[in-house]
Amino acid sequence: MQKSWDPMPITFEVLEKDIAGRVGRLKAGSRTVRTPLLLPVINPHLQPVSPAEMKAMGAEGIITNAYIFSRSSEFRDQALSRGLHDLLGFDGLVMTDSGSFQLSVYGDVAITNRETLEFQQAIGSDIQVPLDIPTPPDADRARTEKELAVTLARLREAREILGPDAPLAGPVQGGIFEDLREKAGRDVGEIGFSFCPIGAVVPLMESYRYRDLVRVVMAAKRGIPPSACVHLFGAGHPAMFALAVAMGCDVFDSAAYALYAKDRRYLTTSGSYRLDELAELPCACRVCREYTAQELRESEDSVRLLSLHNLAVSFAEMSTIRQAITDGVLWELVDDRCRSHPQLLRGYRELLNFSGQLASGDRVSKRRFFYRGTETCSRTEVITYQEALSRLPLGESVLIAMDGAFQDGYDTVLLFKPPFGPYHPALHETFPIGQSEIPDWDAPMVSRGCDGIRILIAANPGARFTVVSRPEWYDLVSRELPGIEVSHGNV
Ligand code: GUN
Ligand code: ZN
Repeated sequence: MQKSWDPMPITFEVLEKDIAGRVGRLKAGSRTVRTPLLLPVINPHLQPVSPAEMKAMGAEGIITNAYIFSRSSEFRDQALSRGLHDLLGFDGLVMTDSGSFQLSVYGDVAITNRETLEFQQAIGSDIQVPLDIPTPPDADRARTEKELAVTLARLREAREILGPDAPLAGPVQGGIFEDLREKAGRDVGEIGFSFCPIGAVVPLMESYRYRDLVRVVMAAKRGIPPSACVHLFGAGHPAMFALAVAMGCDVFDSAAYALYAKDRRYLTTSGSYRLDELAELPCACRVCREYTAQELRESEDSVRLLSLHNLAVSFAEMSTIRQAITDGVLWELVDDRCRSHPQLLRGYRELLNFSGQLASGDRVSKRRFFYRGTETCSRTEVITYQEALSRLPLGESVLIAMDGAFQDGYDTVLLFKPPFGPYHPALHETFPIGQSEIPDWDAPMVSRGCDGIRILIAANPGARFTVVSRPEWYDLVSRELPGIEVSHGNV
């Protein structure tokens, strides 16, 4: 097969960070797109919204299935002669999937790894996907290992067939086994992939298993090089984008906008509604301003109109997320989004269990830190702050004045701000002490702050500590700090 261009490697540049989320610039071939990015799925046989219309709505890229084109008498020759961009009428980034999804649904596909790769290249796809094997979450370890080995062999073969600079995606599989996911991520990086989709997570999302999703993605991320662009295959519900971005996912592809529309469902960032249950259309998009809920319900065009709304909501959420990263308020957004469904809340709480893993990559300073309840106590900023406490230089006698009242007679006097803990008065305008807003103290935040005191005490075995509590917190603080001199304060 004649190559009509020199392949250019996929490159990814991180511009802004928050938690493990990034605002970035992804280059594939001659196309440059901003991430986090949503690639709407285009089905050439059944497309309620054209790629050109999507472009006008702000879509910088789309994804379609090369397998469908290769099997279609209608589209195959046209795709080969005109190229995908011309055929679809879309001059942004076009990624193609290989047929692996059909493999996972039907158990078999009539195409080889080499055939799909050569076809994807021939139709001018900007990002090409080898024939990986999406191992379902209920597969046992032996099957998962075996299929992962096949996937990795196909990724190596893909590099050999298309060359080291070909714009290839390297899917990370490994089922629900965290060690396999981590190893797969590392191997895919070592084979030379800078664009790494995390695969076979659709069944987890379809059954709302967000806690397992978090474990699998965090495991894969431990292995994938931090410089690689990470795509979460098949993630399309806007309520979970923020959570996934916080874990370090940069690209999403969604058929949800069309699938939900076909099912007469209306997407929002806090879940989906049946159109037939809506009395109002609570959205600012063009469809929702032009139509009443009743008109939308009764329209012959309701699937297409719902698709347009669902897309608008999804694109707007990507903008919201990029802005949150730039402002350093992604945790607040994740907290917002994940309260809309108990399983999302479960996923969010699981993510907080990984705050240690996340803290080392998080940004140092943020615009603000808003306390929003118990979950906030486990955020990365708290972990990072308390780790630094063990390096705080102290005198021999230390007063921690929770009541804010300075007293003479101590070498060091520290104040206290929950959930962080003790702080030097000179630091009261620096992040996070100065930028954090907390309501009236509550027990979880005071306990968490006491963790900070214990870290300080453990790091300074030679110092003598006195803690002056606020009277109303005396019982809790003395329970949290056994063996430490705690007084009531203003008594
Ligand atoms: N689409 C959804 N999941 C997957 C996956 O694991 N692999 C590929 N190639 N496509 C997918
Ligand atoms: Zn709308």
